Amino acid sequence: MASNEELFKKIIAHAKEYGYVFPSSEIYDGLSAVYDYGPFGVELKNNIKEYWWKSMVQYRDDIVGLDTAIFMHPTVWKASGHVDAFNDPMIDNKDSKKRYRADVLVEDFILKIEDKIEKEVNKAAKRFGETFDEKMFRETNPRVQENLKKIDDIKQRFYPALERDDLVDVKLLIEELGIVCPISGSRNWTDVRQFNLMFSTQMGSVNEDANAIYLRPETAQGIFVNFLNVQKSARMKIPFGIAQIGKAFRNEIVARQFLFRMREFEQMEMQFFVRPGEEMKWYQYWKEERMKWHLSLGIPAEKYRFHDHDKLAHYANAASDIEFEFPIGFKELEGIHSRTDFDLGAHQEFSGKKLQYFDHEVNESYIPYVVETSIGLDRTFLAVLSNSYREEKLDDGSERVVLGIPAQLAPIKVAILPLIKKDGLPEKAGELMNSLKYDYRCFYEEKDTIGRRYRRMDALGTPYCITIDHQTLEDNMVTIRDRDTMLQERISISEVQGVLREKVGR
Ligand code: GAP
Repeated sequence: MASNEELFKKIIAHAKEYGYVFPSSEIYDGLSAVYDYGPFGVELKNNIKEYWWKSMVQYRDDIVGLDTAIFMHPTVWKASGHVDAFNDPMIDNKDSKKRYRADVLVEDFILKIEDKIEKEVNKAAKRFGETFDEKMFRETNPRVQENLKKIDDIKQRFYPALERDDLVDVKLLIEELGIVCPISGSRNWTDVRQFNLMFSTQMGSVNEDANAIYLRPETAQGIFVNFLNVQKSARMKIPFGIAQIGKAFRNEIVARQFLFRMREFEQMEMQFFVRPGEEMKWYQYWKEERMKWHLSLGIPAEKYRFHDHDKLAHYANAASDIEFEFPIGFKELEGIHSRTDFDLGAHQEFSGKKLQYFDHEVNESYIPYVVETSIGLDRTFLAVLSNSYREEKLDDGSERVVLGIPAQLAPIKVAILPLIKKDGLPEKAGELMNSLKYDYRCFYEEKDTIGRRYRRMDALGTPYCITIDHQTLEDNMVTIRDRDTMLQERISISEVQGVLREKVGR
């Protein structure tokens, strides 16, 4: 069994070999934390987008869509708080010249202590067997208690220091804990500094006239500044939502985790506008709805968990993450945030334009409160990909790699394979392909033995293969093979559409 790190490397290599994801500008040795999607990656990405859009916009009458520009007026980011508060504390190791997020260094240190506790508990569980009382052990074992206290002491000091922006104390804590650079092994640290994550560029052709503008770090602000345009033009009544899918950019400090943390990525966000005072009801509603959506992808429930935030972003009065168990551990996949009236209020103040809604039911004007659902498209892609990857030993002793991507998301739904390249089989296969291609993304392949082609389709994640053989020319029957069970069934060509509709949906 591969370790998680090995598994992650295998998935990254597989994604490249099978045309899912390539490093950006690879012939120039790549660009850190930027990736390109290949021929099959783009299909999977589009299918995830469509799945999200259908459930969040098309199937609902209380949410409408939007597509706003990446460039926005620079004051947007002043009002939203991103110019002043969208920072990560960073620290450099003077020996390795590597840069780290100071908060990640401390949080990783805490994780190591938590690991020690878990090891202690597991050891005791083995020793005591069935009589083991885990709760009592955790509450009374001196070593566990000592480590829990250590964690508590660190948290009591660390989070308030971050809150006060006391970066001197953050550095002191890193030194006192004896945290070393994972590369150089040294404790030779620079001071901790705040680092703004927004990319900026110039707009305008002449240098002196050019204005500094930002590449948006979230798509949400495009929704907020268009709140009244959308509400009036689409005649929406509160409660209602506005959804959009689009690129976002962040100059991430720690950016070595493939699609998990990228500098250019895509978000699928929805802002739900509600009456002030009703936001907690909607916050709970959206937490449940979004978890249901994830489970509907066909990924097991134990791969997900909620993580409610103790430390809230500057705009939120409640926030929870849906975390997914990636090969690098449980990490944030989606955020559900109760953003209060912070954003609309700030834009009203900075723009001087009223951003209020007149509620006929209560005969009152107000700035709506907002509950946001924000999911990373690339992280969802990574979740689907990493959950799908499996290596199997078969009964005959051979091995195969399969991407068990749920059929409704799979890039290619069906492969059409003439058994050999002659005797009229390719023509017959071409006819079938032509009859299916308007409804399903098909893939035609005539090279190699049929066994090799099946293996290739398994590794690509294609749920069904249809083989055309000599018998087909006589009786119009084909073989349909299931990727997961490898079972083969003989069906008539006239049944293919119906079978696929049942298995893949449309
Ligand atoms: N509008 C709220 C917002 O942007 P966030 O928690 O910063 O909240 C939302 O981001 C989601 O965007 C995350 O849950 C994650 O899936 C995705 N995301 C954020 N930063 C990312 C990055 N550097 N690379 C890939 N996905 C990222």
